[in-house]
Amino acid sequence: MSKILIRGLEFGYEAAGAGTPVVLLHGFPFNRTLWTEQIEALGPHHRVLAPDLRGHGETAATSAVATMEEMAQDVSELMEKLNFSRSAVCGLSMGGYVALALYRMFPLRVRALVLADSRATADTDEARANREAQAQQALREGMAPIADAMLPKLVSSGTMARNSEVGARVRKMIMNTNPEGAAAALRGMGQRRDQTRLLSRIVAPALILVGSEDVITPPPDSEFMHREIGGSRLEVIENAGHVSNLERPEQFNESLARFLRDLEV
Ligand code: MLT
Repeated sequence: MSKILIRGLEFGYEAAGAGTPVVLLHGFPFNRTLWTEQIEALGPHHRVLAPDLRGHGETAATSAVATMEEMAQDVSELMEKLNFSRSAVCGLSMGGYVALALYRMFPLRVRALVLADSRATADTDEARANREAQAQQALREGMAPIADAMLPKLVSSGTMARNSEVGARVRKMIMNTNPEGAAAALRGMGQRRDQTRLLSRIVAPALILVGSEDVITPPPDSEFMHREIGGSRLEVIENAGHVSNLERPEQFNESLARFLRDLEV
């Protein structure tokens, strides 16, 4: 893990491998270690950057709302400073919201887009109110109740039965998240804009991945993005829930590597 000062905040990140550049953006409330298996698998052919988004992992938190635009601006500057100026960008869930904001704000940064277990729509009023309640709970009680509430939705019951290690890793990431950073991101996600009209304007090659058992951003959200993004590819990761890259790393890595390889021909 390395650190760099960007926009007045210290950011933790992992950079590894050699070859064409790929940026991996984690979901909420995780950190760069979500991508350990992908960094290892992509390393021989790609230079991979996996930052901790603001308020997560080793990156400092601020009490201000962490909007998707703020995080996209962070990622853009990190890419510039670390020589990833134009890269394939893969975001899982909240990382996908940030990837879409990055594409809207800095389209030239994005050589190709991978949206995993994510969606383009904004929150409903009810979802926004739930996020605010969760933000207040995180600030008041810490991350344990957030982990208890989220874990059964994040990881499919099949994965839990097959490999309890995945659940333990997800819980550890959640427990390591700074409650202030989590609250700022929850409020940022609650405020995020509807990106559905952006989809038909995306001209970068796009891959959409989703776990067949994802109950947070279910397959129809991905099918919608696939219909709207011209020429996009949709692949369903069978028997995986919302953290499909952790639950089925071989399948996820195979889809991602194939897509990245096809960009080069
Ligand atoms: C995530 O995994 O990033 C979050 O669950 C996304 C969300 O809550 O909308």
